[in-house]
Amino acid sequence: MSKRLKTAVIGCGLIGKRRAEQAVKHEKTQLDIVVDINLQNAEQLAVKYNCKSSASWQPIIDEVDIVIVSTPNALLTNIAVSALEKNKHVLIEKPMGCNFEEAKLLFNTAKKSKGLFKVGFNHRYHPAIQLLKTWLNENKIDEIINIRAVYGHGGRPGYEKEWRGDKSLAGGGELIDQGVHIIDLINWLMGKLPEQVFALLQNKVWPIAPLEDNGFALLKYSKNVVACFHTSWTQWKNKFLLEVFGKKGAIIVEGLGKSYGQETITLYQNKLGGGVPDQQTIAFPDQDLSWSLEWQDFVDCILRREPFLNYAQEGLQVMQTLQALYKSAELNQMIACNEVL
Ligand SMILES: NC(=O)c1ccc[n+]([C@@H]2O[C@H](COP(=O)([O-])OP(=O)(O)OC[C@H]3O[C@@H](n4cnc5c(N)ncnc54)[C@H](O)[C@@H]3O)[C@@H](O)[C@H]2O)c1
Repeated sequence: MSKRLKTAVIGCGLIGKRRAEQAVKHEKTQLDIVVDINLQNAEQLAVKYNCKSSASWQPIIDEVDIVIVSTPNALLTNIAVSALEKNKHVLIEKPMGCNFEEAKLLFNTAKKSKGLFKVGFNHRYHPAIQLLKTWLNENKIDEIINIRAVYGHGGRPGYEKEWRGDKSLAGGGELIDQGVHIIDLINWLMGKLPEQVFALLQNKVWPIAPLEDNGFALLKYSKNVVACFHTSWTQWKNKFLLEVFGKKGAIIVEGLGKSYGQETITLYQNKLGGGVPDQQTIAFPDQDLSWSLEWQDFVDCILRREPFLNYAQEGLQVMQTLQALYKSAELNQMIACNEVL
């Protein structure tokens, strides 16, 4: 295909700018229009990339092939559904809507659309995470028995006044924010969603009640494989840690580059005679390629006309898991994921 796919970015904040850069750099896409309710944000980006700008998204959908939606969570669904109904390809930022109901609406609309649909889960495309998946497929540590993860940052002054501190705009607190990345990664590594979950939520520092600034989750998969994670807005020094334990070793991913520290992966393989396991560590350069790799994957799938329903399905399962976690925290009891269907 020689023609470039025309792309619009709706929501020109932190993430919209990153997505815009990818649309400009990719040889098969071009950035046509950037949209932000705060026109100044859109205009700045339009000047940088020599494209059009607009303060409203409704009139511009017809002009493009791909719509990237990177607004606060509460606006994602409405914009994405409208674009899918017009058979546009849609990449929306995580989470897949503000709750499971919105995710179902997105999934059902994606099923009927000729456009391809993907939720932005860029963490899957970090090189250490890609290698983790490869090593698991190569059976380097045998069957997974349990998984542990930590993901967090410490917010910034005035964080409570941003849209993430407002339930009507965010849908939830830290669990729906960084927690969805961890849920997505664990479900993806497991190849399924958990059977049962339990969660405890805290609100200790940020004045954002009823939203949580810390979430603790326990996920029970079939064959009694257990995963747990802690996601936090009071992790004063940014941290990302994902530990996968198998019957014959472990794989540990730490860091995501930059403020999260160098991205590394370590493989521990047990020795037949016991003792200290063999250890191999790989460190990756401090360059976040996840955005360009995710965009490459998205565009490849559009060009190959591959249906994106597997991505939509996985996004839906993340929201189902999340819904069960919130319900568990509310009722203070273990919840079967099927209970929230
Ligand atoms: N993948 C990741 O790691 C990651 C990281 C951060 C945020 N996100 C997601 O990206 C999305 C945006 O987050 P952000 O940090 O860039 O937020 P942000 O506040 O920096 O940017 C949001 C932008 O959307 C604009 N906006 C608000 N209402 C709009 C409307 N009706 N039409 C057009 N524009 C509108 C705002 O003016 C703002 O410029 C969220 O869904 C968030 O969950 C993903």
